[in-house]
Amino acid sequence: MGMNDQVAKPLDRLSGLLAQDMAAVDGLLQQRMASEHAPRIPEVTAHLLGAGGKRLRPLLTIASARLFGYRGDHHHLLAATVELIHTATLLHDDVVDESRQRRGRPTANLLWDNKSSVLVGDYLLSRSFQMMVETGSLRILEILSNASATIAEGEVLQLSAAQNLRTDEDTYIKVVRGKTAALFAAATEVGAVIAGATEVQIRALRDYGDALGIAFQIVDDLLDYGGVAETIGKNTGDDFRERKLTLPVIKAVAAADAEERAFWSRTIEAGDQREGDLEHALELLARHGALEAGRRDALDWAARARQALDAVPQGDLRDMLADLADFVTARVA
Ligand code: IPE
Ligand code: IPE
Ligand code: MG
Ligand code: MG
Repeated sequence: MGMNDQVAKPLDRLSGLLAQDMAAVDGLLQQRMASEHAPRIPEVTAHLLGAGGKRLRPLLTIASARLFGYRGDHHHLLAATVELIHTATLLHDDVVDESRQRRGRPTANLLWDNKSSVLVGDYLLSRSFQMMVETGSLRILEILSNASATIAEGEVLQLSAAQNLRTDEDTYIKVVRGKTAALFAAATEVGAVIAGATEVQIRALRDYGDALGIAFQIVDDLLDYGGVAETIGKNTGDDFRERKLTLPVIKAVAAADAEERAFWSRTIEAGDQREGDLEHALELLARHGALEAGRRDALDWAARARQALDAVPQGDLRDMLADLADFVTARVA
C-alpha cells in the first residue's frame, strides 16, 4: 500500500458513510449552477465542478449536522452553499494568483479569460447566498456572510504581505485563518447550528474547523514547494513565482545569513527571478529544515482540532473527524 492509500483513508471513510447526503449535495450543485441566460456560466462551472475536488468542506457540514443527529434536509443546502462559496473563491483566486492549473485541469482564467472567472465567481457567490436564505435562519446567514467577508479580507491581507520579507508567522496565520480556515469553521459551525447543538458544542465544532483549516493550508503551502504537480493537480512553485511569504519561506528567511537574505530579497522583494532560483530556494528551505518545521506546526494545529472534539458526542463520526485532522497533515494531494 502506498502513502497515498494510507492518507486517503479517513476522507474516503467519511465520504463513504455520507455518500447519500453527498449525492444530494452534488444534485443541488448541478441544479444551482445553471443559468438560463448566460451559457458561459454553466460551461465554466461545469469545468471546475466536473474536475471533482475533494468536497472536503461540504463533507464537514454534513458530518457536523449528523454528529448531532440532524434529520431534516437543510444540511444539503448548507453543504452546497459552502462548496459554491469555495468554488467562487477558487475562480477568483486563480485570477489573482495567475494560476494555470487547478484540479488537474487548465484554470478557467486560462481556458476562457479573467473576466469570465471573475464574473462567474460573482454569480456563484450570489447563488450561494440565495441558497443560504432558503434555510430561513438569520444565524446561518450571519455565519456564512461573515465567512465570505473574512475570506476576501484574508486574500487582500495576503496581497499586502506578499513581497514583504518582514512578514512574520503571526501575519501568516492571520492570512490563513481568513482565506482558508474561515470557511472550514463556518462549514462545521452551520452543521452544528442547523442540528440544534448546544452553544458549547457549536463553539467546539467551530474551533475544530478553524484549527483544521489552518493545518490544511499550512500543508497546502508545504506542497507548493515539496509536492508533485501531477498529484496535487496544481503547479508547484506558484507561491515562489507569486512572491508569497508562506510559512516555509518565512522560516527560511528568519534563519538566513547575509548571502541568503540577499537571495530572498532579490527574488521575493525585487521579483528578479532567474533560471534555477526555485531550485535554490528549495535548497535553502532544506538547509534550514523549513518544510519539516512547517509540518510540525501543521501537526500542532491538527492536535488542536482533535482536542476541540472532546466536547462533542462520542461515536464513529467524531472519530472520523478526528482522523481527518491527521489526514490533512499527512496528505500528499
Ligand atoms: C484549495 O482547496 C484551496 C485551499 C484552501 C488550499 P482544496 O484543496 O480543498 O481544493 P479542492 O476543492 O479539493 O480542489
Ligand atoms: C487558497 O489560497 C484560496 C482561498 C482559500 C481563497 P491559495 O492561493 O494558497 O491556494 P491554491 O494553491 O491556489 O489552491
Ligand atoms: Mg492560489
Ligand atoms: Mg491565493
